[in-house]
Amino acid sequence: VPVQHQRRHPSKHRLFFLELSQALFDFVVQLLPTAEELAVKEDVRKLLERLIRTIQPESRLLSFGSTANGFSLRNSDMDLCCLIDSDERLSASDLVVVLGDLLERETKFHVKPLPHARIPIVKLSLDPSPGLPSGIACDIGFENRLALENTRLLMCYAMIDPTRIRTLVLFLKVWSKRRKINSPYHGTLSSYGYVLLVLYFLIHVKNPPVLPNLQQIPPLRPISKDAHINGHNTWFFDDIELLCQRWRSSNTETVAELLIDFFRYYARDFSYNTGVASIRAGLLKKESKGWQNDLSNSKYNDSRERNRFCIEDPFEIDFNVARCVTKEGLYQIRGEFMRASRILAMRPRALAALTQLCEE
Ligand code: GTP
Ligand code: MG
Repeated sequence: VPVQHQRRHPSKHRLFFLELSQALFDFVVQLLPTAEELAVKEDVRKLLERLIRTIQPESRLLSFGSTANGFSLRNSDMDLCCLIDSDERLSASDLVVVLGDLLERETKFHVKPLPHARIPIVKLSLDPSPGLPSGIACDIGFENRLALENTRLLMCYAMIDPTRIRTLVLFLKVWSKRRKINSPYHGTLSSYGYVLLVLYFLIHVKNPPVLPNLQQIPPLRPISKDAHINGHNTWFFDDIELLCQRWRSSNTETVAELLIDFFRYYARDFSYNTGVASIRAGLLKKESKGWQNDLSNSKYNDSRERNRFCIEDPFEIDFNVARCVTKEGLYQIRGEFMRASRILAMRPRALAALTQLCEE
């Protein structure tokens, strides 16, 4: 339908997309954290920072993950990272033990130190109370500067097109949690993984793209050495104000159209067997990264399992964010993408569609 014609006589499709977009927006708005919840979390962060400083005076406790990148839902957990600006510091695993002891003595949190995890952390939780109906869950890690930077990258992407991106991401987070496919521990994908899938789709699949590739925009100044963390290049174009003065997406699709297309793409078109989704570099081959799953060799059962589904981390490019996804997990995830596609293809009433999509 020619665009002009569409404007004068909004087609049935157009109405469906508009109605669904509005419903998606309303649906996520009611799930955002309240101002009170955010204030309580900030108080908790400050309290913990004060306590940590009694062990390591030169330290800062920073928020990352959803609390810091604008993708948080009501009652989501808090990810905190402790940075120590001093050369005399304990190792991360020792810090986890010492901090665990201190918090056990000085606070009402349930404390669980995990000094031997891939990334050593202290897990904290607070039981629900009248002022805090869902309690609090919080992880504290140390020196995880890459996580702080990837949080900032996600936040910058969200700032370019706040309404469409936050609505899409937040809806997919609720949907994946309710459909039980958001659990790396059980063989499905982390929230971080789903956000990367959305960004990959908006940067590299949609044509015209909804987002530019912030890691490929030519820098205004030579890239400084500081833009490397543990040997990983973490540079990206982060002057979003300037970017938005100079660049505007010519993609004008509604959130509903993007969501429908997102489900269709991951249900049908993404090459799970050979492809790697990379927001940095577009579609890559598993082969070129040494991530192919060699089905012929059962000896490598473990490594094969690790590369069923491949999503490259934007900075740690030798790291597969979907490494925990098992064969069954991937089957389940793809099944959910197909189910969602099927439901939306029937063009149901918007509210009914969302309810059905997120049925537990
Ligand atoms: P919810 O906790 O479900 O609200 O989502 P979230 O946005 O906090 O995401 P998640 O808990 O999955 O991850 C929190 C942060 O940890 C992310 O923003 C990343 O910074 C970091 N992170 C999580 N998983 C990985 C991973 O596999 N690799 C790397 N490098 N960072 C990760
Ligand atoms: Mg989190």
